[in-house]
Amino acid sequence: MAVPQIDLVSQHEDLLPQLREAFDDILATGGFLLGPYVEAFERKLAAVCATPHAIALSSGTDALLVSLMACGFERGDEVIVPSFTFFATAGSVVRAGLTPVFVDIEPRSFNIDPEAVAAAVTDRTRAIIPVHLFGQAADMARINEIAAAHGLVVIEDAAQAIGAGYEGQPVGGLGRLGCLSFYPTKNLAGLGDGGAVVTCDDELAARVRCLRNHGQTGAYEHQYVGGNFRLDAIQGAALGLKIDRLASYNERRGQLACYYFEKLAGLPLALPEAEAGRLHVYNQFTVRVGEDARPAGAARERDALLNHLNEHGVAARVYYPRGLHEQPCFAGLGRRVGDLDRTERACGQVLSLPIFPEMTGPQQDEVVAQVRSYFS
Ligand SMILES: Cc1ncc(COP(=O)(O)O)c(C=O)c1O
Repeated sequence: MAVPQIDLVSQHEDLLPQLREAFDDILATGGFLLGPYVEAFERKLAAVCATPHAIALSSGTDALLVSLMACGFERGDEVIVPSFTFFATAGSVVRAGLTPVFVDIEPRSFNIDPEAVAAAVTDRTRAIIPVHLFGQAADMARINEIAAAHGLVVIEDAAQAIGAGYEGQPVGGLGRLGCLSFYPTKNLAGLGDGGAVVTCDDELAARVRCLRNHGQTGAYEHQYVGGNFRLDAIQGAALGLKIDRLASYNERRGQLACYYFEKLAGLPLALPEAEAGRLHVYNQFTVRVGEDARPAGAARERDALLNHLNEHGVAARVYYPRGLHEQPCFAGLGRRVGDLDRTERACGQVLSLPIFPEMTGPQQDEVVAQVRSYFS
């Protein structure tokens, strides 16, 4: 039996009548951008993130870019980011004219190490972007403490973690601004690209809203240089329907994770660890494979399991095979291979097993059987 990495078709089956009704309405009115569907979605999103403001945008990448633009930093200011993350976390820093400073992760959670953040602060530092990687919140109390001590802005990259909790609070509203993605593999999946910024800060919310539409403050009056970061109405309609089911999607991911914990126990794999006080929403179920050796040796072991699973129809994937500090486009920033040991080890060891709300029992048993058959 083939097990996909994600099933983007069956999630919509029982929503089709409501989706079609909304699309018919949009086609009939011609209101293709922003508008009432997007506004209704923003209200629901603000409630989910427990923030007074939610601004829907064109993507998670644009959410990061607009957040940085809204803060009004100066060219060359530094922003501390983890190296072990998706490209957009650092790519948007450069696009905003700022300098990413890559730091290492905590080995258990894969999230940015607050002590590495503290050590990286300079007099040019303006912001920290903790990423809630794979669906688990970063150590926000310590990060906020460091930020407060140095007057820094915290921008959460919550692209993979909508609905995750930290000490009983949803992610997104824990820093000054929170960035979300509705890319189809995310826990709240759009029908294409989409993203949002959530915040408790009235002034920044107004700035983000304005930047979303070319910084326009009145008819043909531009207070700021913004961009076209608008969300389509059909995305607003679909997300507005699907957000009502987010809690059940996340609950199902949690159940699937529990089953993996039970069935994969005892194998020579390090299973993901949920930190105390955090509600993990398992956008990915990421294990570590291989000795805690230098990356090349570890990667051989991981890749052997990856190939075994892929050859037997199980769509396991590696997120991420390379730290951002090793990417050619960031070579000028001065970090080199060997600089971020824990990131580089993770890159050689991680393997994400399929996990998605529509995954069936037999599909998950097949993943477990193939992992077990590899080790036997
Ligand atoms: C950690 C992280 N940040 C940012 C993004 C960017 O989101 P988008 O693909 O919606 O632009 C993603 C996902 O793709 C992500 O995983």
